[in-house]
Amino acid sequence: MIALRCSACGLAVDVDAPVCGACGELPGFVLDTAAFRAGDLRERARERRSSIEPRDRSGVWRFRELLPPVADDAIVTLREGDVPLYDAPRGAAYAGLARLAYLHLGMNPTASFKDAGMTVAISHARERGARVAVCASTGNTAASMAAYAARAGMTAVVLAPVDGISPAKVAQTLDYGAHVVAVDGDFDDALRAVRALDPALAAVVNSVNPYRIEGQKTAAYVLLELRAWRAPDWVVLPGGNLGNTSALGKGFREAHALGLADSIPHLAVVQAAGAAPFASAWNSGTDLIPVRAQTDATAIRIGAPASWKKARAEVRGSEGTVLAVEDAEIADARAVIGRDGVGCEPASAASLAGLRRLVDAGTVARDADVVCVLTGHVLKDTAYAARYHESGARYANAIVRGSAIAEYLAALLAVRA
Ligand code: F0G
Repeated sequence: MIALRCSACGLAVDVDAPVCGACGELPGFVLDTAAFRAGDLRERARERRSSIEPRDRSGVWRFRELLPPVADDAIVTLREGDVPLYDAPRGAAYAGLARLAYLHLGMNPTASFKDAGMTVAISHARERGARVAVCASTGNTAASMAAYAARAGMTAVVLAPVDGISPAKVAQTLDYGAHVVAVDGDFDDALRAVRALDPALAAVVNSVNPYRIEGQKTAAYVLLELRAWRAPDWVVLPGGNLGNTSALGKGFREAHALGLADSIPHLAVVQAAGAAPFASAWNSGTDLIPVRAQTDATAIRIGAPASWKKARAEVRGSEGTVLAVEDAEIADARAVIGRDGVGCEPASAASLAGLRRLVDAGTVARDADVVCVLTGHVLKDTAYAARYHESGARYANAIVRGSAIAEYLAALLAVRA
């Protein structure tokens, strides 16, 4: 009911082959959606939400019939996937919309969306007898792989530009017992080195691994389920290596084909201006030309995204769009997301910054039903947040110094009165 095929030429691909033997493109799973009934799927998902079985309590494995098969005893789960959907009145006002919601994938067990993909990739690797998992990372993939590998009893090895990424994520990864190898270069260099490894040596669990994509597509199911299976008009998300764009696009496309939702949301992918090869390719209608990436949103400091072709197909299929925003717009948007009591790491906020531009340009209507996807937790990059709040920027909230608390409160109340 689910088969591994080349995402470009459609030929069958062997399990664990890193690329299509015929054309060299990435493999992906194709689900036979005609084999399911929407009513049964919805019913089963509802029943499993009240089960106490770990697989049922996972927002990923609850949909296991729609995933590549993995033996029950190989499944490694940390109860990932069931994340909150928050309404965002301040974010809505900032973007110029009547209403807005955030799907907060940063509320996963290791604090990013990677967990939904990692539970599937590591479970599969364990079932295949892999002893070592490896990835390139800007922080979140590393921590996620490290946690799931630890629970699977596997060795985890990360290749990362450690000095240019969040120290909190590096520390978290070390806590889970992974080996962290500093790369001489950036994420793109690290991913190239990892992809060049002999697959017999270690399971590569970056999003070039199709099992990752299958896990991450369930975020689309979870979002629809949280909205009583009604698709929003737009889903806005940050784009880096573009695995998540491919995954969410696939999830919404499948949900529609399965009859779980009656429409497919337009996908809007937002990149940081200094790391925007996908936005450039989209605007010029040409193939992607890699760049040397530079942005303070370190999670998406990626210049040669591996999944750009898959992502382009999904964005086109959804009649969506791709754009880039400046780092200063990301920084302001991140602070606004905080003011709704939600918070996120910088890359996530590219979504709200991009949405504001799309509303301004009239691409997204002011009464549209929109969900921004927040991909990582507010505590990922506290140094970035601290810098912002001391910067004098529009939403900066600097520490008060040299004032006694009683006088300060009195002055505050006098202003408020
Ligand atoms: N948001 C966050 C918080 C991320 O960590 C990443 C990617 C993205 C967005 C972009 O997602 O690559 O699927 O387009 N982080 C990777 C990592 C590269 O190593 O953690 P994408």
